[in-house]
Amino acid sequence: TERPPSPDQPGGVRAPGRAAIKARHLRTDRWWVQPTATVAGLMAFIIYSAWRALINDDYYAAPYVSPFYSPCLGSDCVDMKGGPNVALFGDWWFMSPAAIILIFPLGFRFTCYYYRKSYYRSFWASPPSCAVAEPHKTYTGENRFPLILQNLHRYFFYAALVVAAILTYDAILGFRNSDYEWGHVGLGTLVLWANVVLIWLYTLSCHSCRHIVGGRLRHFSKHPVRYRAWGWVGKLNARHAQLAWASLISVGLADFYVFLLASGAFDDPMLF
Ligand code: FES
Repeated sequence: TERPPSPDQPGGVRAPGRAAIKARHLRTDRWWVQPTATVAGLMAFIIYSAWRALINDDYYAAPYVSPFYSPCLGSDCVDMKGGPNVALFGDWWFMSPAAIILIFPLGFRFTCYYYRKSYYRSFWASPPSCAVAEPHKTYTGENRFPLILQNLHRYFFYAALVVAAILTYDAILGFRNSDYEWGHVGLGTLVLWANVVLIWLYTLSCHSCRHIVGGRLRHFSKHPVRYRAWGWVGKLNARHAQLAWASLISVGLADFYVFLLASGAFDDPMLF
């Protein structure tokens, strides 16, 4: 539990009872490289995705839809013939249709255990790195508002399963050409499939998924199927950080590829 320092007492690592080390830290390596790179990477994605979500344009190039705009739920969506265009939100919806759907994948990532670790360290310096003292005087953890809302992650996980299923459907629709004839593979088909595979791997490597699959069991021996699935998810879970970055980059690239096609930068090369 939190014990705030009294006003005349220093807190944090300077609190009474802590080792009296004068140096800010004793690390000799370039510990700041990782948090700096994390800030740069996440900021780049935030700026790019905000721009793409807000411009409300160039998100569909037959037969591909950008993952940022799928499923397109606003009535102002472009015509996606045979695509996942469900105008659930009527004429009163004036914002970009991406604003409706992005809540779920972004909420899933924002509350992800790995991303939490990374942005607590890199953006809030809490702490900046292992064995580097944080500047904050108190630590309240995630047991009060607003950080207690991070517990919503397990529910975002279920939403993320639905999002991954929809992106899989989009990738299947990608086996068509621009005249909507089946049995074709373009470069865009490969881009969408690479993205959806990484999205699935990231989603299934989630810590909440691991708990749902293998948690709350007294005897693994009585649940061999769940035990085996838990082993697979555990292997993926060990790579969760790498999958978080790989899928973040792939979803950005998939959107950018559709943007290039839709804005007329070039035509999708058909492979067969
Ligand atoms: Fe990262 Fe669930 S812990 S997605």
